[in-house]
Amino acid sequence: MPLRDTPFKTIIEPFRIKVVEPIRFTTRAEREKALEEAGYNLFNLHSDDVLIDLLTDSGTGAMSSEQWAGMMRGNESYAGSPSFFRFEGTLREITGLKHILPTHQGRAAERILAGVALKAGDVVPSNTHFDTTRANVEAVGATALDLPTEEGRQPATIHPFKGNMDVEALRQVLKEQGDRVPLVMLTVTNNSGGGQPVSMANIRAVSEVCREFGVPLFMDACRYAENAYFIKLREEGYADRTPREIAQEMFSCVDGATMSAKKDGMANIGGFLALNDDVLAEKARSMLILTEGFPTYGGLAGYDLEALAVGFEEALEEPYLRYRLRSIEYLGERLLAAGIPIIQPTGGHAVYIDAGKLLPHIPQSEYPAWALSAALYLVGGVRSVEIGSVMFGRQPDGSEKPAALELVRLAFPRRMYTQSHVDYLAEVLAHVAEIKESIRGVRIVEAPEVLRHFSARFEPVGGALFG
Ligand code: F0G
Repeated sequence: MPLRDTPFKTIIEPFRIKVVEPIRFTTRAEREKALEEAGYNLFNLHSDDVLIDLLTDSGTGAMSSEQWAGMMRGNESYAGSPSFFRFEGTLREITGLKHILPTHQGRAAERILAGVALKAGDVVPSNTHFDTTRANVEAVGATALDLPTEEGRQPATIHPFKGNMDVEALRQVLKEQGDRVPLVMLTVTNNSGGGQPVSMANIRAVSEVCREFGVPLFMDACRYAENAYFIKLREEGYADRTPREIAQEMFSCVDGATMSAKKDGMANIGGFLALNDDVLAEKARSMLILTEGFPTYGGLAGYDLEALAVGFEEALEEPYLRYRLRSIEYLGERLLAAGIPIIQPTGGHAVYIDAGKLLPHIPQSEYPAWALSAALYLVGGVRSVEIGSVMFGRQPDGSEKPAALELVRLAFPRRMYTQSHVDYLAEVLAHVAEIKESIRGVRIVEAPEVLRHFSARFEPVGGALFG
């Protein structure tokens, strides 16, 4: 529905291109060499050697002309910059939260929140913690507890809100060990669970249980706009509401939020911690000054704050959200048609391939999702990311536990790629699916103890990725 008053159905990119950035074509031999030098870890590649980069949707998107105009207006005063007040004002309107602390990205907000609100022995329930959230909770000696619903654990089950939290399980945790739970987190959309949305009904239910037990609820709001649009499309009673109104309602259910504004802030860097509690906010501000910067810039330039103030609003525009969700759904349809199992329905920012199911000949101990993402690079120059046993398998005590799912995520930078890029991807993936039996597993050669997926080095089992 590109125009309300025409019968035309094609959903087009709701922008035209003003600046272009060339992408570099490589040969298979060049990619083989690059992959080997990278220790079979796509994080170690030079991005010039990548054709279509779907490593992440974080900070990688294209900014609008309005955002660039805002950057020129950026005021770099150390304290009290008007750019901060524009940033704060926009967020106050959308979130309704009282204290807004800018940070340089999401994990800085998480670290500050963990530093002021958690202690060793605490338990933090979530629908599913993102890896940095988990790492920040565990870094202070607390336990990060994931409570997704049953449907959320099943890749092929179609359900409109697979990001929901299991409210009964949450109630049980709060009943049995509520004194150890200083806060509850809700990740929207649920990134590690497939970019799946959380319904308004679930947000409300979680909020009510938290209030009943007197525990504050925080939203990990990275993809709040995509979540709001899913609510509009899928939840009864929201079809006629704007994404902005829906986002406001979502935030009205929580006591605070952390956000990586590199996602639905539509900018290349930024984040915030927002909260209502005056005492906690004061502590957080002191920590912010210690590690990020003065509270009116918090690790960001004035021009970043301006780009974000515009970006938070642009993320809520319907033509943009419609195009974004549809591009991802379209790739999902093409992959399903090629017999590639994916998490269904497709999420807001990415398509997640069920590599465990696609490559049953590779045992979990040989990281099938990691092997698949390396194969996609080798074959098509496509960079994706593993969300499986490399990312989640290592336990805080050093032991190994296979992840529940072995996924490869194809995350879409915002406003960056067009229809032909997506068609190319579908072609690469269909080809890899045809030769899937020849893909071999990988083993870890060296790895750090924490967040190992970022820098571990691998080698293919048997010497080559394709056997
Ligand atoms: N929470 C969620 C749900 C995220 O997806 C991310 C980042 C963070 C927190 C941390 O934010 O990177 O700004 O420090 N996700 C990126 C990704 C890295 O690729 O999904 P950050």
